[in-house]
Amino acid sequence: MKVTVFGIGYVGLVQAAVLAEVGHDVVCVDVNAERVENLKNGIIPIYEPGLTPLVKSNYEAERLQFTTDAEFGVKHGKIQFIAVGTPPDEDGSADLQYVLAVAKTIATYMESPKIVVDKSTVPVGTADKVAECIAAVLKTRGVSLDFDVVSNPEFLKEGAAVADCQRPDRIVIGTDSAVAESKMRELYAPFNRNHEKLIVMDVRSAELTKYAANCMLATKISFMNEMANLAEKLGADIEKVRLGIGSDPRIGYHFIYPGCGYGGSCFPKDVQALVRTAEKVGYTPELLRSVEAVNGRQKEKLFSHLQSYFNGDLAGKRIALWGLSFKPNTDDMRDASSRVLMENLWAAGAIVQAYDPEAMNETQRIYGTRADLNLMGTKESALNGADALVVCTEWNAFKAPDFDLIKETLNHAVIFDGRNLYDPAILEAQGIAYYGIGRGRSV
Ligand code: NAD
Ligand code: UGA
Repeated sequence: MKVTVFGIGYVGLVQAAVLAEVGHDVVCVDVNAERVENLKNGIIPIYEPGLTPLVKSNYEAERLQFTTDAEFGVKHGKIQFIAVGTPPDEDGSADLQYVLAVAKTIATYMESPKIVVDKSTVPVGTADKVAECIAAVLKTRGVSLDFDVVSNPEFLKEGAAVADCQRPDRIVIGTDSAVAESKMRELYAPFNRNHEKLIVMDVRSAELTKYAANCMLATKISFMNEMANLAEKLGADIEKVRLGIGSDPRIGYHFIYPGCGYGGSCFPKDVQALVRTAEKVGYTPELLRSVEAVNGRQKEKLFSHLQSYFNGDLAGKRIALWGLSFKPNTDDMRDASSRVLMENLWAAGAIVQAYDPEAMNETQRIYGTRADLNLMGTKESALNGADALVVCTEWNAFKAPDFDLIKETLNHAVIFDGRNLYDPAILEAQGIAYYGIGRGRSV
């Protein structure tokens, strides 16, 4: 099938490459000319396992094209995906300006019936707005063309995006149009072979499904972080509690890892956006507000541990920081907990010596060159002359470090572990002070 994808970010690029891989003829349109040019030259804008060979091979096979030419894109695809960003606006609601700009573009150039698919995460009612926008532009053009607006939210996780798109748990399709449903079934047939994965529903329910899924996952994390904070006060170990509750299949082991808060481009903005949506319809979202508040507090936790440990005097202290991305296997730093920590440390006069396997360039791009940020080439060199080690991201490379080297190199043998990677008993036996999240002791 001929498909056009507007927005070549995490979602658009991965979805486009995966659709091309099964034989669809995909054109990707982006307003970022540099990104388009780079992609044509095999330079992939994001780090995502498996993505580079997938993009390159499908580009070479001419099943995947990149362009800034929106008119060409609109004329190409029967199916037009909108996969642009929906960042928070000033009050935390999802900003729909990019989504509606694409809707307008589609309406401006379409010359045949289209199926417009909202792939971006958008509030309930957005498909109606997209339809109104398209209808209005068609009217001013004086043309009458059929179109459907379908909601097809994306559930991929960064760091596993290719695998998630190739083998989705479910494919949610929100539409009341039989024609659109049939085209979406045809599009996704290659991903729907082993058992039925398509869940077809009305548009509004599909739009809410996306927010409900992310908010449920965020709620699990904030709940566990609250339990971890309690465990710290009560002398219990949250990691034992995690195993104890996860073994109940009604609870499960997924998304109950306590830590230094959830980050990324989605949970923080989507929880906030659903809070605003609820408020706008006169509903008080008590639980969601708490999920957000608990997470905000959790992101401050490592800093407050450090402050207590150094008796409030962090000026001139050198802090080794392992892990900058908001989770492993990505270079994405959006809303990463490491940023809250670094910014707090700088405000307190400390110097950060940071290492991340993939997010060094992104850190440099965000913060530029500054005297209180040293980007180090290895995790070991980040320890040199440092007063403490903090772990913010659970990259595999940090899971079994050389503790003797850590002890010898640090000025103070102390680790603040924001992801509970290490066994407190082993570290104590090695003579390293250890502060995890909810591990029976506070600083
Ligand atoms: P992104 O910021 O990585 O990419 C968005 C792209 O859209 C950019 O390349 C930008 O230049 C382009 N763009 C903006 N306006 C455009 C226009 N008018 N025409 C063409 N291109 C345009 O965003 P993302 O992370 O891929 O997220 C996209 C949407 O998908 C968001 O709503 C997000 O919430 C949702 N989502 C993201 C993820 C994720 O893991 N990142 C997962 C599921 C859903
Ligand atoms: C999340 C969802 O998992 C995806 O299903 C969804 O499509 C996506 O948001 C989206 O809408 O964009 P993502 O943000 O890529 O995916 O990453 P997650 O693996 O969900 O992690 C998010 C944050 O939660 C990370 O900071 C991670 O460290 C934290 N987390 C996760 C925990 O603190 N504890 C856990 O048990 C799990």
